[in-house]
Amino acid sequence: MNETIELMQAHKSTRSYTEQPVSEQMLNEIIHAAWRSPSSINAQEISVVVVRDPVRRARISEIAGGQPWIAQAPVFIVVIVDFNKTRIGVEKAGYTQTIQESMEGFGVAAVDAGIVLGNLMTAARAQGLGMVPIGGIRRDPQALIDLLELPPFTFPLVGMCMGHAAVDMPLKPRLDISTFRHNERYNATSYAAAVDTYDEEIMKYWQQLGRSDGLPWSTNVGNVFKSLYFPEVRPVAAKQGLLNDK
Ligand SMILES: Cc1cc2nc3c(=O)[nH]c(=O)nc-3n(C[C@H](O)[C@H](O)[C@H](O)COP(=O)(O)O)c2cc1C
Repeated sequence: MNETIELMQAHKSTRSYTEQPVSEQMLNEIIHAAWRSPSSINAQEISVVVVRDPVRRARISEIAGGQPWIAQAPVFIVVIVDFNKTRIGVEKAGYTQTIQESMEGFGVAAVDAGIVLGNLMTAARAQGLGMVPIGGIRRDPQALIDLLELPPFTFPLVGMCMGHAAVDMPLKPRLDISTFRHNERYNATSYAAAVDTYDEEIMKYWQQLGRSDGLPWSTNVGNVFKSLYFPEVRPVAAKQGLLNDK
């Protein structure tokens, strides 16, 4: 199999890191790979903030609700929706930017941020590093905006821990691929049975890891999706000028 495909098919998150630092050269190559990401209309409305400072990483770990791997991994990268960058060009062209006030703007930025995150993830793993994406930074976006000194029209959407993995974890199983790939038209007939099977399979995975706190997938997703789990996103995004009301 092609080695890039093999790497991608072996994706896993790492939440335990050694103290070995990530070299500046390795980091530069990873950032360069993500910088080359495509973006909708070539807007390039994504930027990243690299955080190496342990005190600042410890603060981000708190902001994300106490995720120790953020403090432990030597590098944390925050992926920023950066409509402040595009504003400079839009104003140069003699217009007032309004895209950041729309659902379309948020959707475009979320897709482009996801591409950057995906490329950061793949590049990190291609360097032999471990990584884990961190959406938990949206728990308290204002605190992160203050820490990173983010201006209006920007928002910290997602982050990523990166470093040398301390332990090699088994791959986490997924819902059956029939719930992912549809042919020609959407067909959910396999979903309910696939959820039953997966709930059993993931419990076996937790047992294999000795994790007595592991939950079936349906309970885990239910616990989170039953409510608005990061309610600060909308008001803080609005305060940043990302109104999402058009
Ligand atoms: C956008 C995104 C945000 C995530 N946020 C967190 C997070 O805040 N904390 C965490 O420990 N894992 C986080 N994860 C990792 C997921 O929990 C993980 O990808 C999922 O359980 C599947 O496990 P695997 O990556 O090992 O295959 C996030 C993943 C993604 C894609």
